[in-house]
Amino acid sequence: MRFLVAITGASGSLYAQRLLDRLDPAEHEVHVILSQYAAQVISTELPDGLRLREGVLQHSLRSMNLPFASGSNPPDAMVVIPCSMGTLGRIAHGLSSDSLLRCADVMLKERKKLILVPRETPLSLVHVKNLELLILAGAQILPANPSYYTLPQTVEQVADTVVARVLDHLGVKHDLVARWQEEPE
Ligand SMILES: Cc1cc2nc3c(=O)[nH]c(=O)nc-3n(C[C@H](O)[C@H](O)[C@H](O)COP(=O)(O)O)c2cc1C
Repeated sequence: MRFLVAITGASGSLYAQRLLDRLDPAEHEVHVILSQYAAQVISTELPDGLRLREGVLQHSLRSMNLPFASGSNPPDAMVVIPCSMGTLGRIAHGLSSDSLLRCADVMLKERKKLILVPRETPLSLVHVKNLELLILAGAQILPANPSYYTLPQTVEQVADTVVARVLDHLGVKHDLVARWQEEPE
């Protein structure tokens, strides 16, 4: 499978890190792109910086020379994690003004899997209307809302409750978090 992981300047860089830790470049083609403000939040929230596994392909925001900028060559899925409300709004309105936004636009027009993991609170009506528009356009919205019924003990385990659902929707097998009412093997 070919995956594009886009990281923006919403809080929750750890979600992106934990997802990238679980996508094995030996098994999948893994591409990464950072929004204009992603690096600032990453430097605040991930003191050691973002770790990319060997084989992960990083793309520039400023060049359309990545395969997914064209509908002729989209990835199997694109995830925007965490997704700022700014990027979410720009995707909802088809701005396509940089390669991240263009790739998201391609995913929607080609009816491919686009997963957005927004993080904001509270939500304004603008946010809700943009979310509605994106759902109508075919995007999958997986808000960064952790769950607690598995009794997570660390910040990483809390983040993994969100990342596990993203992996489920990407179709990537994992044992990151116990499933509800699942018998341990
Ligand atoms: C420390 C920090 C945390 C932020 N957290 C959020 C957030 O959770 N959600 C959000 O929508 N924006 C958040 N922002 C604001 C975005 O970074 C800002 O709107 C930026 O323009 C988003 O740009 P981008 O979509 O190109 O990444 C945060 C900014 C900073 C500095």
